[in-house]
Amino acid sequence: MGVVASAPAKIILLGEHFVVYGEPAIVLAIDKRAYAKVEIRDDTRLYVRSLNLNLAGYFENKTFKAEQGDPKEAKSKFEPLKLVVEKVLEKHGENVGLNIEINSTVPVAAGLGSSAAVAAAVTAAVGALLNVKMAREDVFRITYEAEKIVHGTPSGIDPAVSTFGGTLLFQMDTGFKPLDVNMDIPLVIGNTGVERSTRFQVEKVRSIKEKYTQIIDHMLWAAREVVLRAVDALKENDLDVLGELMNINHALLYGVGVSDESLEWLINAARKAGALGAKLTGGGGGGCMIALARNAKVQQVLEAIQRAGGVPFMAKKTDEGVKIEYT
Ligand code: MEV
Repeated sequence: MGVVASAPAKIILLGEHFVVYGEPAIVLAIDKRAYAKVEIRDDTRLYVRSLNLNLAGYFENKTFKAEQGDPKEAKSKFEPLKLVVEKVLEKHGENVGLNIEINSTVPVAAGLGSSAAVAAAVTAAVGALLNVKMAREDVFRITYEAEKIVHGTPSGIDPAVSTFGGTLLFQMDTGFKPLDVNMDIPLVIGNTGVERSTRFQVEKVRSIKEKYTQIIDHMLWAAREVVLRAVDALKENDLDVLGELMNINHALLYGVGVSDESLEWLINAARKAGALGAKLTGGGGGGCMIALARNAKVQQVLEAIQRAGGVPFMAKKTDEGVKIEYT
């Protein structure tokens, strides 16, 4: 007896980091999902276990007690989930103890939005378990609150795509607009295996922006143009232009200091193997890169990323946002 909900990971096709300053970005939900199983307890503890991270512990009377794994890591990973549970309980109007079990197929700290996917799945699962009426907008808003704990000043792009799924044009002040993409976007993802914190990367950009405001303002303008041109390229099924725009976008990200050696290896290898474009995706500083390739070149790009030391995989875009798997 319990409820299982799931939510997708994402890749940012174009516009990460600049999106934090109000510029548009294009993001795709992908077929890697985080699952949350929740059930009611007899006491008032909030017990959380992450199967993929080998962490477990519980919150009781404002204190956290770790039962498995590094206590500090467990607390920092579970704190945002405590917040989402509290928000749903507020709507429910009554305090209830819960067991939450997380099982995620999304690589962690890799730029694929694992924290938002987990938070969205937990929010939806707890809501369904307690019969709290929640629109997807509510799941988005609660997940966004959780992301603020994870990385300070999030744009909201990760919670939006994990909640709504699909391919979105996202902008902080106007929200998101689903993009009707009819073409296949053959993307190879390469994981550098270098874990990094989005919070740290976002702060790095903030300090470079404060130091070189006028220069970075021009880069923000360029990033906006890249995204707007890409919207047209997607409409026109123009993979060549999309690839070139990805390369320009990567140059801008490199310029604000969020690439690193591990990413550069994989990006160069992918381009040499015939990718039309390649760039980091998400927070950068490690994590994942993406390469766009024609179907005939995909295998070569995959192999080149692997030879360069990365873990490559293909991801399909999905329209499925957060959903209840079973009750
Ligand atoms: C992280 O997936 C994307 C960033 O742009 C941060 C954000 O938008 O919150 C780096």
